[in-house]
Amino acid sequence: MTGGRIIGWGSALPDKVVTNDDLSALMDTNDEWITERTGIKRRHIGGSTASLSIESGRKALFMAKIDPASIDCLVLSTSTPDRAVPATSATVQNALGLRCGAFDVNAACSGFVYAYVVAHGLLAIGAKRMMVIGTDTLSRIVDWSDRGTAILFADGSGACIVDATPDAGQLLGWDLDADGSLEHVLYAEIGGNLRMDGKAVFRRAVRIMVDSARKSLHKAGLTIDAVKLCVPHQANLRIIEAACRQLGIPMERTAVTLHETGNTSSGSIPLALFDAADRGRLSNGDVVLLVGFGAGMTAASAVIEWRQP
Ligand code: UT7
Repeated sequence: MTGGRIIGWGSALPDKVVTNDDLSALMDTNDEWITERTGIKRRHIGGSTASLSIESGRKALFMAKIDPASIDCLVLSTSTPDRAVPATSATVQNALGLRCGAFDVNAACSGFVYAYVVAHGLLAIGAKRMMVIGTDTLSRIVDWSDRGTAILFADGSGACIVDATPDAGQLLGWDLDADGSLEHVLYAEIGGNLRMDGKAVFRRAVRIMVDSARKSLHKAGLTIDAVKLCVPHQANLRIIEAACRQLGIPMERTAVTLHETGNTSSGSIPLALFDAADRGRLSNGDVVLLVGFGAGMTAASAVIEWRQP
């Protein structure tokens, strides 16, 4: 069976940093409330989905030291495309010098895991090399007069190159889930702002993350004790802590970057994963659990065996 392994990665965050204090000058909020209720201290705002994807994608190509023309397909996860048509992946494909198919995936904040799993589907039917990117620029669709959402969402991107392997590869188990009956709790109409029932999202987030993670672990034939690092969607520290408590994984074995990035949706899991890798938190053979949730309401998880490039 053909599998895949990550051979290079890259991240991109806009230069402009917006702190909680900056936000309290704009709306009725304060650093203490945002820190206590979410864990977020600052976030990066700016750029377009294409520009951030091009930056993270270029870094991934550089790290992997490969010819862009050798990539067989680009899968870009985003719920904030730059235009309705064509897909933002087309702009990114051209700018990076790729000569292959390119398409967008929208599964909201679960999107990077969806894209990563879909890439493995293409590897299983003959693709040799995939590029997977997760990028969102939610600051462009946030209602800056709504303190319930403006304090949470921000911009960022993470990209990786996934090469085919002759063996089963590093993806040991995965789960993709959605419940469209809950679409009203988090949505944005075309051209409109993001609307969210924060409490309703919070209530479900923990349960669907835990369920999805357990399904992936079961498929991988592993228990949570085998997991060296959990990389959850970076939405709210309280959601992460509650999910980790239920899963039975201590926070020391959990990646948390949201204090620096806010919720970057599709960018969230790859940014946290590659931050951990760049900090030397991952060694060859480590089991990593990626788990996210988002509008839709989607959930997605993947158990991977880290293979150091
Ligand atoms: O990728 C998925 C994205 N979505 C999420 O992950 C959202 C999940 N939900 C959450 O993270 C939380 O529900 C929020 C952070 C959005 C809100 O936290 P909460 O603990 O559920 O607060 P709340 O909505 O119950 O509000 C508590 C109080 C209220 O005041 P009163 O009624 O108790 O007087 C709010 O009006 O806090 C007030 N409040 C704020 N105060 C200062 C709400 N937002 C703010 C704010 N600053 N930004």
